[in-house]
Amino acid sequence: MVLADVAPTSRNPIRPVQFLGAKSRSLPVLLGALEDEIPGDAVADIFSGSSLVAQGLARSGHLVSACDALEHCAHFARALLGVGRDEGEAVPQLELRLPDWADGPWGSWLAREREALAREDAEALLEISLTLPQVWRADGASCELTDLFAGLAPGSGPAAGLVASHYAGTYFGLEQALEIDLIRGEIAAARNSGAIDRWQESLLITALLSAASECAFSAGKHYAQPHRIRRDKDLAFLRGRVLSDRGKGLLRLFEERVSSLHAAALPDEGHRAEARTLEQLVREPQTLGAVEAIYADPPYTAQQYSRFYHVPEVISSYRVPNLQRIDGAVTRGLYPEPTERHHSRFCSRREAPDAFADLCDLAVERGALLCLSYSFTRSGETGNRRSIDLPELRAVVEERFSKVVELEIPLAYRQFNAGGHSLTGRSDAEILIVARNR
Ligand SMILES: C[S@@+](CC[C@H](N)C(=O)[O-])C[C@H]1O[C@@H](n2cnc3c(N)ncnc32)[C@H](O)[C@@H]1O
Repeated sequence: MVLADVAPTSRNPIRPVQFLGAKSRSLPVLLGALEDEIPGDAVADIFSGSSLVAQGLARSGHLVSACDALEHCAHFARALLGVGRDEGEAVPQLELRLPDWADGPWGSWLAREREALAREDAEALLEISLTLPQVWRADGASCELTDLFAGLAPGSGPAAGLVASHYAGTYFGLEQALEIDLIRGEIAAARNSGAIDRWQESLLITALLSAASECAFSAGKHYAQPHRIRRDKDLAFLRGRVLSDRGKGLLRLFEERVSSLHAAALPDEGHRAEARTLEQLVREPQTLGAVEAIYADPPYTAQQYSRFYHVPEVISSYRVPNLQRIDGAVTRGLYPEPTERHHSRFCSRREAPDAFADLCDLAVERGALLCLSYSFTRSGETGNRRSIDLPELRAVVEERFSKVVELEIPLAYRQFNAGGHSLTGRSDAEILIVARNR
């Protein structure tokens, strides 16, 4: 269950997808600490990610401005903070008419996938995964599929058939991918015709990404790369996974998520949610409005969020990506070109000190309290090296604020296992740096 271990009608914050670094485990303690420190009502969460903290702050009675560099994260925040939600609004309905895919360009492949699932034939599903024609692997494509691929010009959108042509057989099954395209196309059409408003659009996109995340055939349900199928390896694990992941009904999950998110989203209380980078906020600080505190939970690792969440970004924008090619081959994760992915300075050891200086300067400029989350390993082991060390970060903050305190937020959490670098059983800690000018 992706929806944050909560009942659908819960009034607790909801994590719509598995999201790296989401504050699921420390949330109650973190919110308690923020509650003690934040002087007034208006607060900004400017790296809002899954929107868990923004929701928690809103539920504690704050007026929240949520921003993130990633567009799909802004959809999460807009949906769950009820930004622009009409009072008494009913669950939005889409006119989803299932086309006869059997007669379309994917017909024979879809029949194979359905048969394999009906027979619980994991080998056949893995074989389809390795051979299904795609934009980036057109071998074996029929004339109809070749025409379909040719119509998907990079940059164009809304692009019907995008997900099935780029991510079927890897992150999703073919039927799941076709259903994602169907739903995303209908959301775009409903928005264009004025049948749904901006909040409803965000709710539906959040529900779609939540359902897609649950189906994703990848470690951790993110999109760094799909599970790798290698014939020379023991495939027992993958056989189990492919059967359970490909067997999930995306359409049913989507419908479930629409109603559970609709029940859990806040009414419109004047919160705001936008896709904005810290750099954009620094250039135009007034767009943040009058805030008494800024909560900041930037990334501290070399892993770029846009690398882990490029597929939700593509589904959210619904524009055809330009897939990155290295020596003529697409990357294993099917990443878009670096120019189409957000590059975070917070993930670079060289750029992070300046990025943190900009963040502090923004809070100073706004006359706001800065509450900055930082996580580190107590043991000093470096399973995942930080882009900035704590002493260096302290120096940047203390140079700009007259009073800085550090609060420990206790937790023990499992680290994302990147290439065998995970350090198990360790007790990590998180701190909240609270900085103000008297
Ligand atoms: C650690 S996550 C935040 C997690 C969040 N607190 C939660 O509970 O889900 C960091 C977020 O910062 C965003 N980010 C990275 N660099 C950014 C920048 N320069 N400006 C704005 N957002 C950025 C990423 O997209 C990611 O969503």
